[in-house]
Order: sequence, then C-alpha cells, then structure tokens
Amino acid sequence: MLSKKSILNICDLSTEEVLQVMETADSFTGISKREIKKVPTLRGKTVVNLFFELSTRTRTSFEVAAKRLSADMINFVASSSSLAKGESIMDTVRTILAMQVDLLVVRHSDSGAVKMVDDQIEIPVINAGDGKHQHPTQALLDLYAIRGRFGSFKGLKVAITGDFLNSRVARSDMALFKEMGMDVFLVAPSMLLPEDYSGLKVYSDLEDVLKDVDILYLLRMQFERQDKKFYPSVEEYNRFLSLNRERLKKMKKGSVVMHPGPVNRGIEISDEIMGKGKSPYENVLIEHQVTSGVAIRMALLYHILG
Ligand code: CP
Repeated sequence: MLSKKSILNICDLSTEEVLQVMETADSFTGISKREIKKVPTLRGKTVVNLFFELSTRTRTSFEVAAKRLSADMINFVASSSSLAKGESIMDTVRTILAMQVDLLVVRHSDSGAVKMVDDQIEIPVINAGDGKHQHPTQALLDLYAIRGRFGSFKGLKVAITGDFLNSRVARSDMALFKEMGMDVFLVAPSMLLPEDYSGLKVYSDLEDVLKDVDILYLLRMQFERQDKKFYPSVEEYNRFLSLNRERLKKMKKGSVVMHPGPVNRGIEISDEIMGKGKSPYENVLIEHQVTSGVAIRMALLYHILG
C-alpha cells in the first residue's frame, strides 16, 4: 500500500512506491488485453471524476481504469452542474461526498485547488492536473512508457522541450525523471523556462541535443494558460523547437519521442510525424503513453482503495 492516501504531487511518492506502482501496473496490463477486460478487485467502491477543466486522456483513462477494476465510476461535468448556477467548489464537493463515495479524481485550472479540496475532506484525492503546478499521474505513465521501451532509467538522457513556464507536466516529469537517475536537459528559450531549473543543462535549439538523447519529450504549448504571447511566432518556434521529419532522422538509433497530448500539430510536432490514424514512426510513443496511463491508473486506484 502507498504510505499517503492522496496523490497531489509526484514528490508525495517515494522511489520505492513509484517502482511498486509500476510492478502493479505490469500485473494489470494483461487485463486490458483480455476479451473480458474486467476483474472484481474494486467491486463496491465508488470513484468520482471531478473535472473542473477540460480533458480527454486523463478523465477517460481514469474511467476505463476504474471500470476495469469493477469500481463504480461517476463523471462530474462542471459545465452541466450547479457550479454553472454559482455553487462553490467546496459545496459541490460536499454534495458529492454526501453520497458516500470513496475517492475523488480532481482536475482544476488553478494551481493548488486540488490540495485545497484534499485539505478539507476525509477521503483520498488524486490530482489529475492543477493549473501550472502538478500532473503526477502523467509523470507516472510517462515513466512507465519509458520503462516499457528501455527496461530501466538510470543514465537515460532525456531532453524536455518547449513551454516549461506554463506546464504542470514539465514540473512533475522533471522531478520524477531526476529522482529515477535520468539525465534531464531542458530545451527552451529564456521566456519559456520554469522558475527553478538549477543544476539542469539548458539549450535553446533542438538541433543541439537531437543526436545525443534517448528520449525527446515535447511539451504542449499551453496557449490556454498563457495570459500573454510568450514566443514571437510559430515560424520561430518551428525553427528552434519543433520536431519534423528531417530532425527525427537525426535522432540516435533506439531513441524515442514523447508528448503528453493534446498535440498542437504543426507546432510541437509536424503533421507528417503525427500521421493520419497513428504515427507511421514506431519510435513515436504518444499512443503508447495513453495505453500506459490505463495500467498506471488501475495500479494507483488499487493501491489506494484495494
Ligand atoms: N495529457 C493530458 O493531461 O491530457 P488531457 O488534458 O486530455 O487529459
């Protein structure tokens, strides 16, 4: 069992707990490949997806994960709730808790809002992304996808590129990748760097790291969180930071490309690399990250509620 009931920040988990979650995810991966994709492990438990901000991957994969473990899953949709009539977040949370649910998965556009909820309630909370602050389950699924490809972490060179300033994924991934012994580089212009990147190598041009890295992790340009224009133009971004076919060819053998999604096609990654149905390049792990997310979230629900 995990020592903390809630997961608000990736730093809430020790290295041992992270590895334990990965091992549990291994045992759940097979369930998703069966014809009947369901086990009775969490029968009788009720999980609520409480999303105050838009999501496709995180909300859906928590729902799939809970259902594969036979938990009852309720999706709260902020836009069609009494929030739209002026009810406060905490009154909304109290209303849901009055229905005797067992765990909340919470996403909110304000950094710290998920902790505010957790501080005031007795049941466990999983942070599904809060503002620019943290996205711990994304970091875990990214690590799990890396483990699936490389088998281990120590010494792997990872370049994270793009909009650090507005990215909760970057904060969680940087902390977890460093904790697991990976060599983390940042690629970004000064206006997109995070507040704290002490001890990490920083580059401003993707070309400077392409040949060396095992993992190229492209961050989403978070236009929806930018209250001003942070980069001069898409042309400038394409010149220094975007991945296109020519750059992909320069990457070393065995290296992989990752992105948390949703992708801004033509900005972080070219349309030709993304492909039509799925990427034609086997080293582009974007769909594999999503698949990893289901197993990781099953493991987390199991460790917290099982
Ligand atoms: N990666 C991620 O959090 O995607 P969603 O916003 O679709 O959940």
